[in-house]
Amino acid sequence: MIDKIKERIAEAEAFKAHTKEEIEAFRIKFLGKKGLLNDYFAEFKNVPNDQKKEFGQIINKLKSTAEDKVSALKEELESKEEVKGMYGDLSRPGEPVAIGARHPISLVKNQIIDIFSRIGFNVSEGPEIEDDWHNFTALNLPEYHPARDMQDTFFIQTDPDILLRTHTSSVQVRYMENNKPPIRTISPGRVYRNEAISSRSHCFFHQVEGLYIDKDVSFADLKQTLQYFTTEMFGKSKIRLRPSYFPFTEPSAEVDVYWGLETEIDHRITKGTGWLEIMGCGMVDPNVLENCGIDSKVYSGFAFGMGIDRIAMLLHQIGDIRLLSENDVRFLEQFKSAL
Ligand code: DAH
Repeated sequence: MIDKIKERIAEAEAFKAHTKEEIEAFRIKFLGKKGLLNDYFAEFKNVPNDQKKEFGQIINKLKSTAEDKVSALKEELESKEEVKGMYGDLSRPGEPVAIGARHPISLVKNQIIDIFSRIGFNVSEGPEIEDDWHNFTALNLPEYHPARDMQDTFFIQTDPDILLRTHTSSVQVRYMENNKPPIRTISPGRVYRNEAISSRSHCFFHQVEGLYIDKDVSFADLKQTLQYFTTEMFGKSKIRLRPSYFPFTEPSAEVDVYWGLETEIDHRITKGTGWLEIMGCGMVDPNVLENCGIDSKVYSGFAFGMGIDRIAMLLHQIGDIRLLSENDVRFLEQFKSAL
């Protein structure tokens, strides 16, 4: 009998289970009301007195072995279930991560910065709320100068005049006041003008200003720089410079790039000419250099300014400028890009 119980102990020790049901069957078999242990306990009275002690010890060992086994197996199973609950089904495919999109204005701005940084231009910024000096006077636009009307201005305060800058040319003044030549800088930023909002114009938009000051800078340097830019930016190298007027440059020009007339959109955007006006430029007026503390007898330079919004509309075929500021996700999420 004792040998038999020893076999049962070995059986209980070796037992393995994967489900609650298997554990329960084991418990009933060993510890249940009609289980093996109760049978052995019932047998106890028939055991000869001199064997009672050993018999008692052995069935108690079987009892504790079976009980320990049941609780160990239950614990193991529960901890497995917990892990499953915590991580869900580990074999399921991963949840897709939504990738954000950059705003088309930022895309084009970054592209412009990248192109100019390759030829040594750094990036500078200035405040959107400006004073009269930096937005107008220092740029050769004294009070009552008729050219001030070219840009309809939002004034925040008068006397002294504080306004929302009408162009990023204000940043070239700040840069020249604070840095000595040689200067090569581009200044991207938002500008404001009191204009009626339509599909083609808005009361705020974005510009990139460029400024290059050094000894012996000529108009040829300006033209070469623009040629490089248009080739890199648009893949088009045919440009033309039309004489124009800006108070802060002399001579001044407007730059057109030959866009072509391949598609209907090309026709529409270039008004049937194939030429697209992209920026204003010129040689920095000596008065502006002097206003900013740079000796105009020693230094000369060129400047240019272009609108980002129109270029973004062109490159991404956006038909209405208002889309750029409406924050409609359906529109914005179309511009996924690494830039
Ligand atoms: N500030 C001009 C505008 O907003 C653009 C411009 C023209 C900037 C010629 C320049 C420049 O630096 O040289 O219309």
